[in-house]
Amino acid sequence: MAERFDYKKSIGVTLDRFIMENQSDFPFATGELSQLLRDIAIAAKIVNKEINRAGLSDIVGAMGSKNVQGEDQQRLDVIADFRFTQALTHGGEVCVVVSEEVDEIIFTGNDDAKYVVAIDPLDGSSNIDVNVAIGTIFSIYRRKSPLGKKPGLDDVLQKGTEQVAAGYVLYGSSTMLVYTTGFGVNGFTYEPSLGEFFLSHPNMKTPEMGRLYSINEGNYDDFEDSLKAYIQLCRDRRYSGRYIGSLVADFHRNMLKGGMYVYPATKGSPKGKLRLIYECNALAFICEQAGGMATDGKNRILEIQPTELHQRVPYYVGSKKMVEESMGT
Ligand code: AHG
Ligand code: MN
Ligand code: MN
Repeated sequence: MAERFDYKKSIGVTLDRFIMENQSDFPFATGELSQLLRDIAIAAKIVNKEINRAGLSDIVGAMGSKNVQGEDQQRLDVIADFRFTQALTHGGEVCVVVSEEVDEIIFTGNDDAKYVVAIDPLDGSSNIDVNVAIGTIFSIYRRKSPLGKKPGLDDVLQKGTEQVAAGYVLYGSSTMLVYTTGFGVNGFTYEPSLGEFFLSHPNMKTPEMGRLYSINEGNYDDFEDSLKAYIQLCRDRRYSGRYIGSLVADFHRNMLKGGMYVYPATKGSPKGKLRLIYECNALAFICEQAGGMATDGKNRILEIQPTELHQRVPYYVGSKKMVEESMGT
């Protein structure tokens, strides 16, 4: 018999409440990290609204400009970048930001603030115009430089192991915010009519083994032989190929269902395509927290010492056994 709807249980836990209740995970928490997470959630709501009506408000399409990596900027890339950097600047908890869309580090002017944020404001931007899921990725670090001084590049060039929190927003068939502070992964679904994120996916875990592989197979001829052999193994096992072309969306699906996403080194891009600081580290942290694994094909992503702001890295992320197999271990 179907379970009866229990109206007393129907009011969920809001993101704000969850953040507040879990603040005690950090013994000396002052509430600044909680406030910062809430600022990010507010910016995400604004960006969500803009994405939802993009086709109506003349904000789809290219800007006609390129970002620092020479990629065409979409209007929504620029809008999302503005919304998040504004929220992080005005929020007062962040001293410096690094964004995919901005060449240099962004000083917020809050030199007394103790956090650093790395952000991909809009991930999967080639999918905006065609109504396919896109995302936002963020990492939060504690600054290295002393409070009160102007922060510098070293505050941003930290290993992923130093993240205090990381998350993503997926603007998909529903909008979700998923984050970790190193005590498991929790997912929240946005209820637009109330303007609130509600806890929908508590303590997310990824299957150890999956049957999905996500890779741009159009680049197959440029892969290393070992990766070609692994892809062939996936085909032999009749695994499903699933590739949206929005890292956040591919990652989220694989985390829930079990699978692996790869953006490898290719002949044309020997360092891969994805960026260590504001794409790979956040999802690597979340993936490990959910029981998965993230490497560059050899080394753990979180232990790579970044040397450049927009550094690229080959990326293998997802179910532990699949990532291990693809590395030949
Ligand atoms: P972004 O839109 O932030 O530049 O990221 C795009 C990334 C990633 O989301 C996606 O998985 C990958 O680029 C797709 O690249 P290909 O088109 O080369 O497969
Ligand atoms: Mn991206
Ligand atoms: Mn982007």
